[in-house]
Amino acid sequence: IPQGEALVEAILQLKKEKNAVILAHYYQPAEIQDIADFLGDSLQLARQAKDTEADMIAFCGVHFMAEAAKILNPTKKVVLPDTQAGCSLADGCSGEGLRKMRAQYPGALIATYINCNAETKAESDIIVTSSNAETIIRSLPQDRPLIFAPDKNLGRYLMKKTGREMILWDGSCIVHEAFSMERIAQQLHEHPDAKLIAHPESETAVLDLAHFIGSTSALLNYVEKDAATKFIVATEEGILHEMRKRAPGKTLIPALVFDESCNCSECFFMKRNTMEKLYLCMKYELPEITMDEELRQKALVPIEKMLALST
Ligand code: 13P
Ligand code: SF4
Repeated sequence: IPQGEALVEAILQLKKEKNAVILAHYYQPAEIQDIADFLGDSLQLARQAKDTEADMIAFCGVHFMAEAAKILNPTKKVVLPDTQAGCSLADGCSGEGLRKMRAQYPGALIATYINCNAETKAESDIIVTSSNAETIIRSLPQDRPLIFAPDKNLGRYLMKKTGREMILWDGSCIVHEAFSMERIAQQLHEHPDAKLIAHPESETAVLDLAHFIGSTSALLNYVEKDAATKFIVATEEGILHEMRKRAPGKTLIPALVFDESCNCSECFFMKRNTMEKLYLCMKYELPEITMDEELRQKALVPIEKMLALST
């Protein structure tokens, strides 16, 4: 495997040869973000995947994101650098689990966060991402019970924001749950001029302290446009790379986590992807996302409903 500049060149060469597009999430390692054709949040990446004219999508994110790309654009080859790039939310909620929950609450609608696998999507009435969840929840009929899966933290936040009662699946993101409200309160005390910005997967105690809550793309826009010059950032720290580019004069401080020996908030899953693995997956066109066609069609329905309701 080539190294350094030669590796970057080799990936660019493969991209040309194979008419591939590289899509990457903001939590990816910096060098992957730099080589990507498109960098975005979950919703933006799903849209890019749906609309691409490329023959191959090299998806640098976690498994459920690459799977969503395949669901939306089945004629393209979708490869990802590491199939072990999972997600604690997706791993904690199965299609069978949702089926059981539906049976428990007859007549309920199920709104599911995009951080889930295809089987779980197939059992859902509508999918949401952190960018469109509030709008979508507000648009759902009021006369039926509403189940929200799998992120209970995002669910609680949405209940508070919209006033809509929801039955919550008991799942969470291991990265965002690690933020410590006490230590962040101390950071705010030490930096009285800083604003705390947080992703809604964080726990309520952290969100209650936040000056702004939003998806990764919303957090980026906020840092860029807000008049403040200092921000404490409560989300996966890979996003700081793009924040520094978009708001070069501003001070960005990663929010602290419970574990005092580790001042980081890295998603272990997102960071399984490396430049070497990206090169290999493009060269050998493996690992590839494949899916049963019946399952794909079932999973597509609630995603398309989401896209129709998103701006
Ligand atoms: P966004 O849709 O806000 O990018 O969130 C994705 C994610 O996995 C957050 O942990
Ligand atoms: Fe999943 Fe959390 Fe990692 Fe996002 S940060 S991919 S929600 S484990």
